[in-house]
Amino acid sequence: MKKLLALLALVPSLVFSAGSNYPLDKAPDLTNDMAALQRGAKLFSNYCLNCHSAESMRYNRLRDIGLTNEQIKENLMFATENVGDTMTIAMDAKDAKQWFGAAPPDLSLIARSRASSNGPGADYIYTYLRTYYRDPSKPTGWNNMAFPNVGMPHVLWELQGERIAKYEEVADPHDAEKKIQQFVGFEQTKPGTMNQVEYDQAMADLTSFLVFMAEPVREDRFKLGVIVLLFFGVFTIFAWRLNAAYWKDIK
Ligand code: HEC
Repeated sequence: MKKLLALLALVPSLVFSAGSNYPLDKAPDLTNDMAALQRGAKLFSNYCLNCHSAESMRYNRLRDIGLTNEQIKENLMFATENVGDTMTIAMDAKDAKQWFGAAPPDLSLIARSRASSNGPGADYIYTYLRTYYRDPSKPTGWNNMAFPNVGMPHVLWELQGERIAKYEEVADPHDAEKKIQQFVGFEQTKPGTMNQVEYDQAMADLTSFLVFMAEPVREDRFKLGVIVLLFFGVFTIFAWRLNAAYWKDIK
């Protein structure tokens, strides 16, 4: 019984890790688009690496998305000199926890880890990065639709600008007497350097980069799959001819 209770205590933290049933937008899959992945890598190192690490990602893996060591060094590396290093950060996890109320998780595998608890990981991240809004009641001044009460501020506000969430009073579907506040959309209150289409595209780039990072050998695996299938094809022809030769004199 005790064990069961302990298990039950775990359930909410698994199911509601982001605590939202905001519908997720479908993330465009740009993981085969080198230019998009490069733009995503740039956004990542400019806006995310200050707080988040990506410990299982080495800078020189970025050669897989078509960058040279020189380009990596010049554009993407701020914390270290060595392209063989992993993406670590200088910020102390304890400080971070104090500043934001939660430590920024390592992002190497976030696209995969979020895939299990919040539906498809890419869709969750894509939605999360696009649903920040101003909320003066929060310590950071920001809130998020996909991750309510998130500790992370809207680090991309300069690009997206500022928005507020609009609510409408509607009848409670469970109790006609009551009224509830229903989210009806965002209202732009300050423009960003990007318009909405550009911002969505940038977030598709960044999300695809996070997916690439979570599984950098994915492309190789697809190629391997094709080779295996070809092998089976060729093997079938051999088996067929061999079979015919084997039974030739018996008929
Ligand atoms: C100022 C520091 C800071 C920066 C910069 C930052 N983050 Fe965060 N991030 C956080 C903190 C703190 C959390 C933990 C939030 C929480 O658990 O409430 C977090 C959490 C996350 C999560 C996990 C959400 C979840 O469901 O658990 C993702 C994904 C994420 N950040 C992506 C990014 C991306 C992408 C960037 C770059 C555009 C970025 N972050 C930049 C501080 C930061």
